[in-house]
Amino acid sequence: MTEVSAQQRFYITTPIYYVNARPHLGHAYSTIVCDAVARAKRAQGIETWFLTGTDEHGQKIERSAAQAGRSPAEFASAISGEFRALWQRLGLSCDDFIRTTEPRHVRGVQKLFRVLRDRGFIYKGSYTGQYCVSDELYVDAPPGSVCPDCGRPTETVSEENYFFKLSAFERRLLEYYEEHPEFIQPEARRNEVMAFVRGGLKDLSVSRTSFRWGIPVPDDEKHVIYVWMDALANYITALGYGSEDPADKARFERFWPADVHLIGKEISRFHCVYWPAFLMAAGLPLPRAVVANGWLLFDKSKMSKSVGNIVRAETVAEVLGVDALRYFLLREISFGQDGNFTFEALVQRYNGDLANGYGNLVSRVVAMVHRYFGGRLPEAGETGEAEAELRGTAERVTREFAAQFEAMDFARALETLWSLVAATDGYLTAAAPWKKPTKRTDEEQVRLQARVLRVAAEAIRVVTALAWPVIPESAAKVWAQLGLGDMKQAAQDGKLKSIAWGGMASGTAFAEPAPLFPRAEKDAMERMQNLENENNQSAVAAVSAGPTASAGQTAQATPAAEAVAAATAGQAAEVAPGAETAAAAVVEKAKITIEDFAKVELRVAQVLVAERVPKSDKLLRLEVDLGDEKRQILAGIAQYYEPEKLVGRKVVIVANLAPRKMRGLESNGMVVAASVGDEGAPVLAGFLEDVPVGARLK
Ligand code: MSP
Repeated sequence: MTEVSAQQRFYITTPIYYVNARPHLGHAYSTIVCDAVARAKRAQGIETWFLTGTDEHGQKIERSAAQAGRSPAEFASAISGEFRALWQRLGLSCDDFIRTTEPRHVRGVQKLFRVLRDRGFIYKGSYTGQYCVSDELYVDAPPGSVCPDCGRPTETVSEENYFFKLSAFERRLLEYYEEHPEFIQPEARRNEVMAFVRGGLKDLSVSRTSFRWGIPVPDDEKHVIYVWMDALANYITALGYGSEDPADKARFERFWPADVHLIGKEISRFHCVYWPAFLMAAGLPLPRAVVANGWLLFDKSKMSKSVGNIVRAETVAEVLGVDALRYFLLREISFGQDGNFTFEALVQRYNGDLANGYGNLVSRVVAMVHRYFGGRLPEAGETGEAEAELRGTAERVTREFAAQFEAMDFARALETLWSLVAATDGYLTAAAPWKKPTKRTDEEQVRLQARVLRVAAEAIRVVTALAWPVIPESAAKVWAQLGLGDMKQAAQDGKLKSIAWGGMASGTAFAEPAPLFPRAEKDAMERMQNLENENNQSAVAAVSAGPTASAGQTAQATPAAEAVAAATAGQAAEVAPGAETAAAAVVEKAKITIEDFAKVELRVAQVLVAERVPKSDKLLRLEVDLGDEKRQILAGIAQYYEPEKLVGRKVVIVANLAPRKMRGLESNGMVVAASVGDEGAPVLAGFLEDVPVGARLK
């Protein structure tokens, strides 16, 4: 990726996370990447501001709260508290955490809305069309369509709305992308966004009237502001936009525009089309870059609550430590692309690179300095070719690492850096200062030991300084062992800025060796798996305690159940770290009664006719036999099933769905299919045994 900034001030943001789901590794990934970049910038002496937070308004949150039997405000507080607690537990160095329910944000969003309206970019109209609640996205498609992004059914909304004149920005946006190729990264996202804009931009509805959980439109309070306008504005409201306080104004002036909005690739359109258009309309400068990370996959699908394949960051942190998680995510995943998370790969990397690699190197060298030199760093004395070579490697690695890290190619940067670990290991093994051949005098032996340990320590110092943004806790331990003092302070003071070879002072007292990365044994994976299972069970236990459990009833309950009680008592923002996952679990596990289920009439039907719907690449028209009647159903499976192959096949349908029209054709029911993989590919439900046509599923 292209270098993002070469200036003396740096502002980086994560997406703000929806509070309908408990935080998982996918969220931690984006936040950890930002943290590493922020630390690297601070270490270079650049004044840095790192923002994260939670996105708490909108229909999706309102519904999740209702399902959990909570008010949206209580519900949002509980889960926002979880995010904040997790970032603390992971030691992330955020400078601010914004909640979109905070008055400072509400004020700023209302100001932005007013400015856009006053400048003539917002007008009143009415919208009838499709809306995807899960993505909070307007979908330009006929009723009955599924969301093109997530594949879930869209809902028809018909409301009086305020519109933003997005269409007026089509040309300006395209020009901007052309003139600033670094604005959207990586290239694949840039191409996607440009193709989208070239396809034409329609005005965007920026208010809703059919629900209340949002920021009221100024002077017209029956509308709430569209949640994406609300959410995107966090990047400026958190700095102080909308405030009259001089300190806020100064912060805004100081840090806006952002250098990097780091986002997940699925929200590129909001950040690269809507957001710059809002800013252009408001007369504000645009962020320098929007950089999209790929998805963290688990079992080949995007890790997400709805797929149910999440792993929690706490689990990895507990078994292998926070740095192991950070190192793995940055080293293993090619930034910008999707990457698999597996416990096997994690443990392998941990043992290979951290325990046996860097950790082992450090402990050998520190132990030998203690053993041979009473813990004082010796003078190198006269050095030779091997030392010159190692120094050359260190200097090359320092240069290459810096460039690769700046370009956000973290995997390559770490690969480069670890080549210095390997080179130092090789140097140490070749010189073998622990061995004394009989022909070598005692004096020669001491000289060799002094030279080798001094030079190896120097190389370790270089590795450690560069690795700081990625493994801060462990790097700080090593720094202290090398007698270099408080690394956190050194980083904050910009003292890691230029790590020149030869920066160590002879005679420096090393601290006692302390374990860094104890080797992970076979049971590490099992322990992580067990922790995940236990967590899922305690979440279920909390659900059975019920969302209405009172604080008194839960006095002896599990930590998860206590969290529900805390949410009930409205104190959720203060719940202790690690103890508050249950509120989200309540949402995930919300149950329906057997009566609810009985309302859905699922029946076996046989396909009589199957053909493509003209001008639609998604829809098939099916005629199916239910035994007592025949009917027409439209199914969005054309990309996955050949119509000819469906004829005669028995499928499961929802028989009592209200009829709806698609492409001018009436659909009477819905075919049931599993939604598989990233794209939600449909796989039709069927039976191993023969079943009569018309049979009901109960
Ligand atoms: N609230 C919006 C963002 C508004 S920003 C103004 C939203 N929230 S989200 O919680 O659904 O996702 C936020 C981000 O979490 C994603 O963009 C991505 O950065 C991160 N991730 C969530 N799951 C992820 C993976 N499985 N893999 C990688 N990142 C993921 O969208």
